[in-house]
Amino acid sequence: MASLAFFRAVNLTCLNIRSCAHHDGISGPHNRGFGRQNQMHTTRTHYDAFSRALHWLTAIAVIAAFTLGPEHFGRALREGLDPATRWDIVTHESLGMLVAALTALRLLWLVVRPAKPRFEMPAWMQLTSKATHGLLWLLLLAVPATALLALGSEGHPLTLLGGIRVNEMPLIANSPLADLADWGEVHGLLGDAILWLSGLHAVAALVHHGLLKDGVLRAMLPMRR
Ligand code: HEM
Ligand code: HEM
Repeated sequence: MASLAFFRAVNLTCLNIRSCAHHDGISGPHNRGFGRQNQMHTTRTHYDAFSRALHWLTAIAVIAAFTLGPEHFGRALREGLDPATRWDIVTHESLGMLVAALTALRLLWLVVRPAKPRFEMPAWMQLTSKATHGLLWLLLLAVPATALLALGSEGHPLTLLGGIRVNEMPLIANSPLADLADWGEVHGLLGDAILWLSGLHAVAALVHHGLLKDGVLRAMLPMRR
């Protein structure tokens, strides 16, 4: 009898801890983002700190790379310019490769991170938000990938800060993908597209904050407020 009472007490304590952890948005073994079930039971109000840090680092790197997107850069390369002699080209390529590395890390983190916050909103808004995030993920991968295809297929070196230089990319140059498109042009178009889409995405976040007042923007802000 005594042992039965003991196990009942332990069980009740566990249930309380579990519901408290969910209620406060504390991550714990029961609040990991492995499956839909965990996501449906969460009442987190913020993305975890690592997701927030990666989101804002990526946003800054994308905007900086775009701002430095050197005009007529492709033509200059085709005319024989050594990109290592141009700080804007070297910085553009370094920031772009940083975006690729951060995106790979974010995708790995998506698998194991605590469940993300969920907000009550109409189905069309949920769908639009999912589609926008999906497209942003795709562009975060496609923009650096098409840049590498452009450099590799045209035989230009990849030049990064710190004197890092990759002169040839034979895997790309010899692949059937190399002649499939003018990858430099595709890269420039996708670079413009990611800026337009993230601009719309930022406006949507500001509308959530200013008009709908539903905590969506606060969920991603670097400081928890
Ligand atoms: C998210 C990251 C990036 C963004 C937003 C971006 C954006 C752009 C844009 C808008 C252009 C066209 C510039 C113009 O002619 O007006 C461009 C050109 C270019 N970028 Fe990027 N870029 C990114 C990453 C990279 C990376 C990782 C590399 C190198 C591996 C790179 C290499 C190039 C090259 C070679 C061109 C010239 C393409 C050509 O015309 O042949 N970019 N980029
Ligand atoms: C180049 C710039 C940006 C890119 C590529 C980008 C990309 C993304 C991606 C992929 C997500 C999903 C994140 C995840 O699940 O971990 C996200 C979420 C979010 N972003 Fe951005 N973002 C950018 C800029 C911005 C800006 C400027 C703002 C605010 C003004 C913003 C506000 C948010 C918010 C509030 C969320 C969470 C939305 C939700 O849970 O429905 N983002 N962003």
